[in-house]
Amino acid sequence: MVVYQQHPQVKLVGVCDIDPLLVEESAKTFGAQFTTTDFTELVERNDIDAIDIVTPNVAHAPIALAAMEAGKHVMCEKPLAMSYHQARDMARVAQDTGVKNGINFVYRHHPAAQYARYLIKQGYIGRIFQINAAYMQGFLIDPEVPLVWRLQKVMTGTGVLGDLGSHIIDLVEWLTGQQIVSLVSDMQTFIHQRPLVDGSGVGQVDVDDSTTFLTRFNGGAMGTFVSSRYATARRNYQRIEIYGDQGALVYKWEDTDHLKASIGPAFVNEA
Ligand SMILES: NC(=O)c1ccc[n+]([C@@H]2O[C@H](COP(=O)([O-])OP(=O)(O)OC[C@H]3O[C@@H](n4cnc5c(N)ncnc54)[C@H](O)[C@@H]3O)[C@@H](O)[C@H]2O)c1
Repeated sequence: MVVYQQHPQVKLVGVCDIDPLLVEESAKTFGAQFTTTDFTELVERNDIDAIDIVTPNVAHAPIALAAMEAGKHVMCEKPLAMSYHQARDMARVAQDTGVKNGINFVYRHHPAAQYARYLIKQGYIGRIFQINAAYMQGFLIDPEVPLVWRLQKVMTGTGVLGDLGSHIIDLVEWLTGQQIVSLVSDMQTFIHQRPLVDGSGVGQVDVDDSTTFLTRFNGGAMGTFVSSRYATARRNYQRIEIYGDQGALVYKWEDTDHLKASIGPAFVNEA
């Protein structure tokens, strides 16, 4: 919202949240004239050109489909949809209506990611052999963390795979220009029951807490991906290593202004 506010061509017309208190608060904070708890009231307005969807995953598709069918451009948070089939429906409506669609993969915009992509595109890394990607957070270690929407399949579609894994899948494919063509994966839920948010008992966690997979890419590279919300001491650890026959790159979220690059055959050891 702060970025939208700074953009000279963006005017915030209205905000929607199903929580009436939150919607008034954010309208006040960001200077919106119109508030509603029903997204169809935003979609129906003629003075709105684009809608940015920042709801839990379950609401992405219904809002995006209604907005596109009303001729509005859509920016949507990741993961795009609850399932592959839902995402296909959204893509089809986007094509049919001709409006612009985007998904908000924020990490692409960091200087280190931009420069990594430039080096790969320019051929400095050469033929890519191996890609290792990790995205680790530790906020679920505490069993008292309640059963928020992110832990319920009916609200989120996938667990850590869609939440954190989607970022590193996108980053790797965007950085290298290669797409995953096959994989073998393992997923696990570590704590199966958690306190309900309203304190009225416990509920079932029915999504993945940690996911790892081995991949092959259409450009010939191999990859390992790991994402977890059970990584003790990690707040937002994200690391991507790319090894080619001309050089290697290490991108880290903790230091997104700097990229580690080794161009040429030097041997470097790093803890
Ligand atoms: N790009 C990123 O790095 C990034 C980071 C965090 C979250 N996200 C994504 O953003 C989305 C929201 O995540 P969050 O952590 O902000 O969730 P949140 O629960 O903190 O906030 C979601 C808000 O949406 C409101 N809401 C729920 N259903 C709605 C509906 N039908 N219509 C209008 N409002 C509705 C809720 O009341 C709440 O205020 C998720 O898809 C998540 O994956 C992306």
